[in-house]
Amino acid sequence: MNETEAKQKLETLREQLNQYNYEYHVQDNPSVSDYQYDMKMRELIELEEQFPELITPDSPSQRVGGPPLDAFEKVQHNVPMLSLGNAFNEEELRDFDRRAQGGVEEEVQYVCELKIDGLAVSLTYEDGLFVRGATRGDGTTGEDITKNLRTIRNIPLRLEENYTLEVRGEAYMPKRSFIALNEEKEANGDEPFANPRNAAAGSLRQLDPKIASKRNLDIFLYGVGEWEDSTLESHSERLEKLKELGLKTNPEWKKCRNIDEVIDYVNGWVERRMDLDYEIDGIVIKVDRLDQQEELGFTAKSPRWATAYKFPAEEAITHLKDIELSVGRTGAVTPTAILEPVKVAGTTVQRASLHNEDLIKEKDIRIGDTVVIKKAGDIIPEVVRVVMDERTGEEEPYRMPDHCPECGSELVRLEEEVALRCINPNCPAQLREGLIHFVSRNAMNIDGLGEKVIAQLFKESLVSTIADLYKLDREELLKLERMGEKSVDNLLNAIDASKENSLERLLFGLGIRYVGSKAAKTLAEAFGTMENLQEASYEDLTAVNEIGDKMADSIYRYFDEPKVQDLLTELKRLGLNMEYKGRKKNDQPTDSLFLDKTIVLTGKMEDYTRSEAKKLVEDLGGKITGSVSKKTDILIAGEDAGSKYDKAKDLGVEIWDEEKFKQALDA
Ligand code: IVH
Repeated sequence: MNETEAKQKLETLREQLNQYNYEYHVQDNPSVSDYQYDMKMRELIELEEQFPELITPDSPSQRVGGPPLDAFEKVQHNVPMLSLGNAFNEEELRDFDRRAQGGVEEEVQYVCELKIDGLAVSLTYEDGLFVRGATRGDGTTGEDITKNLRTIRNIPLRLEENYTLEVRGEAYMPKRSFIALNEEKEANGDEPFANPRNAAAGSLRQLDPKIASKRNLDIFLYGVGEWEDSTLESHSERLEKLKELGLKTNPEWKKCRNIDEVIDYVNGWVERRMDLDYEIDGIVIKVDRLDQQEELGFTAKSPRWATAYKFPAEEAITHLKDIELSVGRTGAVTPTAILEPVKVAGTTVQRASLHNEDLIKEKDIRIGDTVVIKKAGDIIPEVVRVVMDERTGEEEPYRMPDHCPECGSELVRLEEEVALRCINPNCPAQLREGLIHFVSRNAMNIDGLGEKVIAQLFKESLVSTIADLYKLDREELLKLERMGEKSVDNLLNAIDASKENSLERLLFGLGIRYVGSKAAKTLAEAFGTMENLQEASYEDLTAVNEIGDKMADSIYRYFDEPKVQDLLTELKRLGLNMEYKGRKKNDQPTDSLFLDKTIVLTGKMEDYTRSEAKKLVEDLGGKITGSVSKKTDILIAGEDAGSKYDKAKDLGVEIWDEEKFKQALDA
């Protein structure tokens, strides 16, 4: 390919990838599978490697993070990034309204938005191109975090129109990602983040963009800093325009005609905010008309045309009855506060993780204390502080034990870790937790084998290793409490079925340190079989993209253990599949009947749900769309197919029934 051809090809690839990103992240309606996306991205990166001079700053390949920085550059905000005044109750909201109405001639209307609890950032676009992203800093000077922001897939690197403007918004970490990140941190013996806001800020202030790129951050844009040639007249028009430009705005905003409607909106979110997948700490109320905003102007610190209603803190006071210890599958020993049950943010809380000894010391938490608790990020209960005034002198300071509460071995504190660990590989608590992990959803996904059943099997000495699960005896199981014939048979069938799982599930289930479910998939794809992986050298492992030194070292040492080798030999003998069943990274489907076909699914199939069928088609290179048109190649029609069937017939589109679909899958 010559340079002109490459340039053209690169443009097409970038356009396609940008379109896929937009469909996925902004419209929430992807038209291609993750696999197809990854393949396109790979094609782009490979071509850019051949023609590095053709790499552009808005190429979707530039999101993957670059080399670490030494320090962040400073960025001047031409329009200062101010903060907002607060209102804590209805009265104060009405005061704000009176001041606003009094400051302008015509009646004021408002836009209400969720106040996202993250990190305020500014994004600058020049001629439609994302050129700079910065933190708020002190409002006048922030830090240049462009490289980290580029890793957020919802930030378009090019706008839909070529405007020069500076937009502002909140970068945040979704609750789910926050929980997963902290679980990982705790398992690795690292200090967890206190809440999603700290996690987002901590991730964006890392000098190494690779870290931010792994943190699953997101963004909502809510305002404009500079935009010279804009003719828009209201904030609501701006929000609509930002969305049109491909910038992600929060969909929950609402125009309110008066303060009563504002108050209804605010009250509506007090409870509903728990259902969101991100944290909000209040509602922002803004005067809608931009000319009125200008007329109202600013005080020294904040605009007169906007205020933030802050939700009351969801805290409660209770009694700390005891501190219990639990030993995780990696041996980390975690203290948990046992509390007098108390209601916080809609649920009853009776336990709160104290994370580690340092935290107990820092907060001077003692057994018998009266404590303030809250839900960190409204999710995980946390002890905020001790109510010192309530101390009677009877409270007992807490000291972590020197020995494992389950097996009695001496606990150690590994270098650079905050957690104390039990390093006895035969510690029953670790074995039990390891089994719970092995059967869990993302690992072997064995139905009917929850935490309770495992604990029961363990207690009755029916299992102590993973291999024992595959040797369970029906008669023995029937003797257990609450185990009838039917549940025993179901359980045994589920265990048996798990033998067929693809390699990545087994790999993740083994609980190799630092190997999460994503890394397990990468390893399975790269090595294909357990045997290859067992034989892989440290260099073979690090040669795989996404496998770093620390993980490679851990994997290598894991497979080097004679005990592990014995376990794997036994699992193989027991009939567990040791091969990767998905498609290898480099094999693109070349000969499937679905390849490059546009396919519509309709009606009910007997053997496949809609999403299973969709995945099968996409894995074989087909594209699924929602409605029948002239572009449709095939309609796959199950039972009770309706109007799509008629339309396909009218247009002469090829129609397959379930039987034909099955044959095509096998072809
Ligand atoms: S408007 C002139 N809208 O809240 C001030 N701010 O004190 C313009 N925030 O750190 C701010 N969600 O980043 C606005 N929908 C929203 C917001 C929001 C969160 C943050 C903002 C700043 C703080 C305001």
